[in-house]
Amino acid sequence: MPENQWKSALYESKHSFVWRYGADCLELLSPQMGDRILDLGCGTGRLAAQIAASGAIAIGIDQSPTMVAQAQQNYPDLQFEVADARNFQFAEPFDAVFSNATLHWIKEPEAVIACIWNALKPGGRFVAEFGGKGNINAIVTAINNALEAVGYPVQPELNPWYFPSIGDYSMLLEKQGFLVTYATLFARPTGLEDGENGLQNWLEMFANSFLQAIPANKRPSVIQHIENQLRPQLYRDGTWFADYQRLRIVARKE
Ligand code: BEZ
Repeated sequence: MPENQWKSALYESKHSFVWRYGADCLELLSPQMGDRILDLGCGTGRLAAQIAASGAIAIGIDQSPTMVAQAQQNYPDLQFEVADARNFQFAEPFDAVFSNATLHWIKEPEAVIACIWNALKPGGRFVAEFGGKGNINAIVTAINNALEAVGYPVQPELNPWYFPSIGDYSMLLEKQGFLVTYATLFARPTGLEDGENGLQNWLEMFANSFLQAIPANKRPSVIQHIENQLRPQLYRDGTWFADYQRLRIVARKE
């Protein structure tokens, strides 16, 4: 995601569900005392701090300097670095690489998987959760329809996301040499904070690449058009829900 979209304050205040749900995935990671664990896409450091609280040595990386600065401010005793998931290396290998809600932003999964492989000790584990096949289908369809309605036809290159199936992602991991030991794809409708504003906040934070493609004076009507389409399906009792499909995967470096 481009740096200008990572508004760390907005992320902390209105999108805390991103790391709150990630806590479930920490159970799969099962950090052990003394484990050296890399949190890839650490955001504001919340999950790295939970990993460290279990006695592991947690190091967080994120592509966004703003997020890393916020993480460092939140947790001055932990180590955070700005790094590109497609091109990073550490001198000392890790027992585990963990990643929550990050990998769907990177359309070059092979490069990421190669870096993770190189960062792990033999026998090390990779535990990740991110958007999988079918993720936010309803939202993406509504965005495309709304853009078409104001005269901006669908441009696939505006779509910043990679939502693989279990099969596709497992194949890439196996090609690298990983043994995939667990994989699941499940629906997790996710309530967005801030009531009626929830979907608009989400679009402005996460779907900016689409909104930026149209003149600013057309954006309010596009957002309105998106909300009108999605309201029957994704708005309940004063809350918007994102139609998330999560892919959870565990693999071991053989
Ligand atoms: C996700 O967590 O699945 C997600 C978040 C923002 C944009 C797209 C997907």
